[in-house]
Amino acid sequence: MNFKDELKSRVNNVEILLNEYMPKEEGYQKTIFEAMNYSLSAGGKRLRPILTLEACKLVGGNEKDAIPFAAAIEMIHTYSLIHDDLPALDNDDLRRGRKTNHKVYGEAMAILAGDGLLNYAYEIMLKESIRKDDSNKYLKAINEIAKASGIYGMIGGQVVDIESEGKSISMDKLDFIHMNKTAAIIIGCMRAGAIIGGASEIQLENITKYAKNIGLSFQIVDDILDVVGDEAKLGKKVGSDIDNEKSTYPSLIGLDKSKEIAKNLIEEAKLSISNIDKDSEFLNSLADYIVDREY
Ligand code: IPE
Ligand code: IPE
Ligand code: MG
Ligand code: MG
Ligand code: MG
Repeated sequence: MNFKDELKSRVNNVEILLNEYMPKEEGYQKTIFEAMNYSLSAGGKRLRPILTLEACKLVGGNEKDAIPFAAAIEMIHTYSLIHDDLPALDNDDLRRGRKTNHKVYGEAMAILAGDGLLNYAYEIMLKESIRKDDSNKYLKAINEIAKASGIYGMIGGQVVDIESEGKSISMDKLDFIHMNKTAAIIIGCMRAGAIIGGASEIQLENITKYAKNIGLSFQIVDDILDVVGDEAKLGKKVGSDIDNEKSTYPSLIGLDKSKEIAKNLIEEAKLSISNIDKDSEFLNSLADYIVDREY
C-alpha cells in the first residue's frame, strides 16, 4: 500500500475507535456531550493517536493495548484546540472546517467541553490501567501523557505563547514555546505507545528523538501554513498569527529559513529511528508528510 492510502486507512481506524469512546448524548448534562463530540468528530489529521499506535507496534507490542490511550490523547489534543480557539486565547472562528466550539455552544460550554474531554481522557486511561495485571506499565504511560500535556508541557508552552504576543522574543524562547505547546504532546503520545509496547531504553530514546524533531518541525510548518496556506484545505483561518501578533518561526526568521529548518529537523528525525531494527518505513514517510503537507 502506498503511504497516502496507508495514512487514510489509519485515520479511518482512529475514527472508528474514537466513536467507541465518545460519550452518549443523553441525560440532563447532554449539552456537554454534544459539544465534546462536535469537536472530536470534526475530523483532523489524527496524527497523535496514529503515532501512539505506531510507536507501540514499532517496538513489537500489540497495538490493541494502546487503543484506549490513542483515544484519550486525541481527546486531550481536541480539548487543547477548543481552548486555544477561545476569544481569551487565539480568538478563532474556524477549526477542522467547522465553526469553533464556542461559536456554536458559547464560551461557557466550550470551556466545560474542553474540561470534559481532558478529564474523560484520564478516566479512560485509568479505567484501562486498573483492570490490567501489568498495570504499572500503563501508569507509566499515563504519567508521560500527564507531563506532556501539563504545565511542564503543552499548557506551559501555551502560557509563554500568549505572553509573547506583540513582543519580540529570542529564538530560544520561541523554541521553548514550540517544544512545549506542540512537540511535548507528540513526544508524550509516542513514549506512551512505546512504553505500552514494552520498549527497551534505547528504543525509547530513539523514538523520543524522532518525536522531538517531528514535533518541532510540525509547529514550524503550522506557522508557515498560517502565512501561505489555503483556508479551505487547512479548515482553519490563515493569518491568525499575524492578527494576534504571535511570535512564530516566519515572523522571527522568515519563510525560507523556516522551511529549511523544518526540513532539516525531518532528516534528523528519520536518522533517529534508522537503527531500530523493526520496520520504520511508515514513520519515515510520515516525517516527510509533516513537512510537505498542505493542511
Ligand atoms: C493543531 O494541531 C495545533 C497544533 C499543535 C499546531 P493539528 O494540526 O494536528 O490539528 P488537527 O488535529 O489536524 O485538527
Ligand atoms: C496551538 O498552536 C498549539 C496548541 C497547544 C493547541 P496554534 O495556536 O498555532 O495552533 P492552531 O494554528 O490554532 O491550530
Ligand atoms: Mg495558539
Ligand atoms: Mg491557535
Ligand atoms: Mg498555528
